[in-house]
Amino acid sequence: MSPEGLRHGPGLKFSIREGLCIEHKPQPCGLVLFGTSGDLAARKILPALQGLGAQGLLPERFFVLGLGRAPVDEAALRRQAPGVKGLYYLRGDYGAAATYQDLGRRLKELSARHGTSGNVIFYLALPPDLFHPVTHKLGAAGLLDEPTRAWTRVVFEKPFGRDLTSALSLAAEIRDHLKERQVYRMDHYLGKDTVQNVLMFRFANSIFEPVWKRTYIDHVQISVLEAEGVGHRAGYYDRSGVLRDMFQNHMLQLLALVAMEPPSSFAAERVRDEKIKVFKALKPIDPAQPGRGLVLGQYSGYRSEPGVAAASAAPTYAAMRVEIENWRWEGVPFYLRSGKRLAGRAAEIAVVFKKVPHSMFRELSPDHLEANTLVFRIQPDEGVSLTIEAKKPGPKTCIGALTMDFDYAEAFGEHPPEAYQRLLLDVMLGDQTLFPREDALEETWSFIQPWLDADLPLSPYAPGSFGPAEADALLEAEGRAWRQP
Ligand code: BG6
Repeated sequence: MSPEGLRHGPGLKFSIREGLCIEHKPQPCGLVLFGTSGDLAARKILPALQGLGAQGLLPERFFVLGLGRAPVDEAALRRQAPGVKGLYYLRGDYGAAATYQDLGRRLKELSARHGTSGNVIFYLALPPDLFHPVTHKLGAAGLLDEPTRAWTRVVFEKPFGRDLTSALSLAAEIRDHLKERQVYRMDHYLGKDTVQNVLMFRFANSIFEPVWKRTYIDHVQISVLEAEGVGHRAGYYDRSGVLRDMFQNHMLQLLALVAMEPPSSFAAERVRDEKIKVFKALKPIDPAQPGRGLVLGQYSGYRSEPGVAAASAAPTYAAMRVEIENWRWEGVPFYLRSGKRLAGRAAEIAVVFKKVPHSMFRELSPDHLEANTLVFRIQPDEGVSLTIEAKKPGPKTCIGALTMDFDYAEAFGEHPPEAYQRLLLDVMLGDQTLFPREDALEETWSFIQPWLDADLPLSPYAPGSFGPAEADALLEAEGRAWRQP
């Protein structure tokens, strides 16, 4: 970067000035990682802790106590995250009361050794059927109490239930032992830099918000396309399917960020209040209606994947038309789609504006002029682009679409960090802004539940395609088309 902060992109010049950072330092604490020998700990949590340690973002007084059923060598664990000073392991059976007594003793000893004043985070990186019993046992052992001047927080990984009833019952169990301010429900999409950027884009600029409404926006497309299949997660996925796995959480959270009203401050309750209003305004669906606005698909070959039932009815793809019943969004459809084994990996939010009402270029009708589109590219090619119509150089009047493209890696010289780093740091800081609140679960499950209850047909699609043809028809019926990211 030049001293002025100017970088040159191909055909484009953009400048990034040093921004202002809001930085807080977490208090001393210990983190107990349930499920240390599991897949999530190895793939996401330990690397995130390592990343935070390497950047000097962990509290000075800090330790991690891994816990799990398997024997784990502490030295090997430390090699996984050398940037974390103070990594220990306790082997124990999650069902045995003795485990929680041992845990209590170890915590006391480590808290004194590391001077963490009793502040502790319990991270439950566990299969969902263990959330209930482990929370219960932690509570029964008195480990969730907040001793004087210390705090206790608990992190839950999704899925938070498998339907409305089980989500409510899990919520009740959690409420028995914890106050909402102690609970952190992970939705890792909210920790992605490019997702948070939607909020900065909308609310740290004044030029977009005035046009962010039904008068100017034609529709919104939210796509999370995955190239990978179900992989080794069939045991979980085949019981869940894409509606539970992606829509109840990530997809509806993305929709809320695009659709919500400006919160009065970037504070947890203010932001979460606004999201709830969006969920409450989602138009209830009636799966019995023809043209109901949902297409479910399953990729060919899914049923022969290891661990998948031979007659599995799990959808691996869904496309949904959602309406938000409020003043801002009346009549603006939000189209959501997500699936596995598709043509490529791409997640984006596209805001498609209305076409010009009148063309002053005699030979061109408004339909000849492409609609302005603002695209938040969430991953993997992170950035933001805005497509506008512009004159092509030359003596003739030629108009064509021009895309102004901000590329994250090119502008900042790096790819965004892993979502888990940000979210773990927020847990340590006690900032719940990026974590779904209990009422969000109730609202999102209530919205999805009729689809889960309905016995809808599954449309097959070829691996490597863009999903079933019926999903294209969903938009074509309204004179629109999916973008091909
Ligand atoms: C998880 C889902 O929450 O998100 C997975 O359970 C999915 O099925 C994953 O593959 C996608 O996350 P990312 O960050 O790779 O887009």
